[in-house]
Amino acid sequence: MLKLSKLATAVALVVAGSAAMAGEVEVLHYWTSGGEAKSVAELKKIMEGKGHTWKDFAVAGGGGDNAATVLKSRVVSGNPPAAAQIKGPAIQEWASEGVLGNLDATATAEKWDSLLPKVVADVMKYKGNYVAAPVNVHRVNWMWANAAVLKKAGVKGTPKTWPEFFAAADLVKKAGLIAVAHGGQNWQDFTTFESVALGVGGTKFYNDALVKLDQKALTSDAMVKTLETFRKVKSYTDAAAPGRDWNLATAMVIQEKAAFQFMGDWAKGEFSAAGKVPGKDYICAAAPGTDKAYTFNVDSFAMFKLKDAGAQKAQADLAASIMGTQFQEVFNLNKGSIPVRLNMDMAKFDDCAKLSAKDFVDTAKSGGLVPSVAHGMAIKPAAEGAIKDAVSQFWNDDKISVADGVKNIAKAAATK
Ligand code: BGC
Repeated sequence: MLKLSKLATAVALVVAGSAAMAGEVEVLHYWTSGGEAKSVAELKKIMEGKGHTWKDFAVAGGGGDNAATVLKSRVVSGNPPAAAQIKGPAIQEWASEGVLGNLDATATAEKWDSLLPKVVADVMKYKGNYVAAPVNVHRVNWMWANAAVLKKAGVKGTPKTWPEFFAAADLVKKAGLIAVAHGGQNWQDFTTFESVALGVGGTKFYNDALVKLDQKALTSDAMVKTLETFRKVKSYTDAAAPGRDWNLATAMVIQEKAAFQFMGDWAKGEFSAAGKVPGKDYICAAAPGTDKAYTFNVDSFAMFKLKDAGAQKAQADLAASIMGTQFQEVFNLNKGSIPVRLNMDMAKFDDCAKLSAKDFVDTAKSGGLVPSVAHGMAIKPAAEGAIKDAVSQFWNDDKISVADGVKNIAKAAATK
């Protein structure tokens, strides 16, 4: 009897011990398209391999606007998830509310300061303490093209300037196909808009107008030219674009219904999931006029303060896993992005990823590396929302003149 009860006590202790080591991690994200779901499944696998329970909190909606709304209501009701996909200046806003945890113990043990570009590490910190873990680097100023469609339309070479692009788009139209696959959310419009602004006006104009929100730059000739070009791009989209999700627009390019899409390299995750090969089935190229520049978009998970010890342990393991080499490789191979962790082996990555990695380093040196406004990297959420709405109104309503479009955007940029 005595022996048995001793055994029972020992078993109970072991069980209690392992329970204290493992916990549940609830992760709010908006990765629901084919390529995105495959990517986030890898993180789940790693966490489950460490004995933790993954509670998936996926909120559909590209660009994350829906997820941001849901997150607010969860935090306000005092029940935040362990981790949420938040990035850029929004991390600072959440941290200033006092709701984010401190990841310094993990970051110091794992040497994050020496493994991250400083521009990225700074965004992950609030008052010098890590509060978020970065996942990847997405490049936004890409143009995707279907090689067979270009061939069919008689397009020779990939357009490198906007005039070349419109000439190619005319040929595609003539061949009875859609030139530009586009969807219908304001962030999709802005993704195209910021690539046009960068290509037409250059890096200085982009930074002055869209990052510093300088009124002179916002009302300059470069902005007029940007809106004229942007409106012209619109004329090559199809009538069914409004309301369409970004990944359905990518599918139009994959399925040879459309020639081009302006989208960040999460689109490559869709091409990869469909078994398509870059350089053969599809082409990745910088948007016209932007090959010396790079609009970056770093995905990251901010970690919320938690009370339960098991959940805290799971959260720390999540942060460490995100920055680990295993996750950085497999996630980014699926997602279309490149690792944010420095000095990673790129052998398994395709040519688009290798070009992205090279251009990231080169543009960081040349000054061509700029934050994406469309993807929450550059300005505070209030101004970002207002300026996106103004750009989308212009895109959707041909009756708004270019002069009025310029005025509306400049006014929106002043939103505090
Ligand atoms: C995110 C990507 C995501 C894309 C579409 C971007 O803002 O950074 O991770 O795949 O939106 O939802």
